[in-house]
Amino acid sequence: MLAIIGGSGLSQLSNLDVVSREIVRTPYGEPSSVLTFGRLGEQEAVFLARHGHRHTIPPHKVNYRANIWALREAGASHIVSVASVGGILTGLMPGDLIIAHQVIDYTWGRASTFFEDEGNPVTHIDFTEPYDARLRESLLEAAQAVEITARDGGVYAVTQGPRLETAAEIDRLERDGAEIVGMTGMPEAALARELEIPYAVVNLVANHAAGRNDSRQGIVFDRLEAVLLEGMEKVREILARVSLPKEESANV
Ligand code: HPA
Repeated sequence: MLAIIGGSGLSQLSNLDVVSREIVRTPYGEPSSVLTFGRLGEQEAVFLARHGHRHTIPPHKVNYRANIWALREAGASHIVSVASVGGILTGLMPGDLIIAHQVIDYTWGRASTFFEDEGNPVTHIDFTEPYDARLRESLLEAAQAVEITARDGGVYAVTQGPRLETAAEIDRLERDGAEIVGMTGMPEAALARELEIPYAVVNLVANHAAGRNDSRQGIVFDRLEAVLLEGMEKVREILARVSLPKEESANV
């Protein structure tokens, strides 16, 4: 079953034909929202709102472990994460969609592993390729099928937030090789890998990153809502078209 984690602008999946809702508890506490089960396009899906249904949980307070654990318990075979970002790379425009292929983690202090309980052996996951190649491919194919442009690949910098970055921080991220910047990509991706659930992300560029283009004098929040509204409509269309890779991916 496809699981979708919706971020800012996607607290609800309006094209999900809802069948049931379930409150779930996990050994790591409560996930951000109830799980909503239903049909999306041709398949069964489960939806979770990363920031809560009323968008009340900031990025650094999201219980990423409970979210990923709950989705696994619910029977998720694949997870697609949706996250809005700022565009760093020249040429990226608000409204652009990106299927990121790499991540750089600048977050701190977030519970970022399932493998830290006393008595458990130390476990290191391979994270060379943080996103599942076949699930990324499925997303790109779905976008193509509904004639929506989605960029194949992007380096996603994940900052701590909740404040936005300074212009100098964005310059530094660019020097590091980052192309987009958001606040929720980690530890979510690593936790999914720890549980061996194929995971990929759809990023929607909500704004030019701080100090860039029309954000040179600051980020204008008024415009974000309209961009998110329109962009997430496209994301919903893509999600409704995704066909999941058949066998379990080898995560390469
Ligand atoms: N920076 C970090 N996170 C974001 C941004 C940004 O500019 N836009 C949307 N999420």
